[in-house]
Amino acid sequence: ALEAGREALSRLVLDIPDHPEPGVVFKDITPVLSDPAGLAAVVAGLTTAGLDEAGAPRVDVVVGMEARGFILAPPVALALGAGFVPVRKAGKLPRETHAVSYDLEYGSATLELHRDALAPGARVLLVDDVLATGGTARATAELVETCGAEVVGVAVLLDLAFLPWRRALGDIDVTSLLSIE
Ligand code: PRP
Repeated sequence: ALEAGREALSRLVLDIPDHPEPGVVFKDITPVLSDPAGLAAVVAGLTTAGLDEAGAPRVDVVVGMEARGFILAPPVALALGAGFVPVRKAGKLPRETHAVSYDLEYGSATLELHRDALAPGARVLLVDDVLATGGTARATAELVETCGAEVVGVAVLLDLAFLPWRRALGDIDVTSLLSIE
């Protein structure tokens, strides 16, 4: 059943060559979101990352990363009885933030989190659509830890297995519903 689910999911993820720039194959997850069974399966799959072995929620907060993490994290938070907190690109959050910059292939990016968004000791699940280099998830984990909160795991719809996200994330627990070889 799990294999059938992955197969169905992989058919709903489209490869878009040369987007947003030549040489990049963009993974378009919008057909997963517009498919009722696909959307339900993805939310259910990501939610399992926030459950303990007895099936009880083990997180207080679900953090979603701009922009596509904002689509997936809130329904997961609702399913877990947790809150939702956004991590945004630089300059978007209106109050005092923590900020972390990280290297991209060309240049760098900065992510921000409201300083008071996470209580010390809060248990946090990170949710996004894709793990590629792992830079976004790594930077988000640093922001969470700066607040004194604890990253219990990262959950994504899909990972690009040929990119070095595992190295970037060290021993952080990762749940990915679809691994692209
Ligand atoms: C994409 C994706 C992840 C990140 C994964 O976001 O949604 O957040 O890249 O890549 P990484 O593992 O190499 O960090 P993008 O930066 O394109 O932002 P957007 O969702 O705002 O377009």
